[in-house]
Amino acid sequence: MGELKKVGIIGAGHVGSHCANTMLIQGICDEIIFVDINKQKAVSQALDCMDMLSFIPHNAEITAGELKDAAKSDIIVISVGGIQDEDRMAELYSSRDIIKEIIPEIMKHGFNGIFVVITNPVDIVTYWVQKYSGLPYNRVIGTGTGLDSARFKRILSTELKIDTKSIQAWAVGEHGNSQVPIFSSASVNGKLLTDLIKENPEKFSHVDFEKIENLVISAGWDIYKGKNSTEFGIGCTCADLIKAIFHDEKRVLPCSVFLKGEYGNSGIYTGSPAVVGKNGVKYIIEISLNDKEKQKFNLSCNIIKENIKKLGL
Ligand code: LAC
Repeated sequence: MGELKKVGIIGAGHVGSHCANTMLIQGICDEIIFVDINKQKAVSQALDCMDMLSFIPHNAEITAGELKDAAKSDIIVISVGGIQDEDRMAELYSSRDIIKEIIPEIMKHGFNGIFVVITNPVDIVTYWVQKYSGLPYNRVIGTGTGLDSARFKRILSTELKIDTKSIQAWAVGEHGNSQVPIFSSASVNGKLLTDLIKENPEKFSHVDFEKIENLVISAGWDIYKGKNSTEFGIGCTCADLIKAIFHDEKRVLPCSVFLKGEYGNSGIYTGSPAVVGKNGVKYIIEISLNDKEKQKFNLSCNIIKENIKKLGL
């Protein structure tokens, strides 16, 4: 019989609990263990999730425990910390302090699976998780611009009045204010967005790329301002990555991956499409960028590089 699929969630707040909720509703895993500095919160999240059991596709075991218990998982989600400012880099030092403490503790107890990192600034935190864990780059993945790409499609969908699932659009670079939504290759069922607009001015002449780009970049804050968190979109983004891993889907997903020369950059984690399967990232799909997009992407990579250097790693 196939192994049970177990996920450890380190950080039982809005983001971690919504990743759990999505995984359970979609039947993605069989076991979840919540770990949080607030032990009562971890227990409550587990019990609250257990109350879903009568309504979800298959039975699951959801518990609360310690880092040593989570180390027995196939996948560990890092969702500690929390939004502090309208720049995710503001979490740099607090996140570094948490990661420095928890990753060695998890590895000490023999974790040999895949890390999926959400904690911001996610590209830099993913870099640290890989450094502190020593796991191969392909088995340490950040949600990165997966959420931004979903937002890009959502906003295009509203502007075009076309279902998001018929739109292919990617954001690359930092999951942050320097992210780059890629308009040049965005398409509607294979029809380039730029051609669609050019050939159908009566329908789409109102589509304003600069306005859309700004909406994508500010989307996280636009949500946060009203509820002091984001949770549904990021929960689904993380669960989707985990689904691709558990089912060895070899699906192309936007996520935070380690560059080894792709796009002319290397030595950092940043958002790019990549093929994701049972061992994490199989390989990166280097999306075509026009000159302007390339310039913005390089700027974004430099922001990530500068912030990694700040902390001497
Ligand atoms: C957001 C957080 C997850 O963009 O960074 O919603």
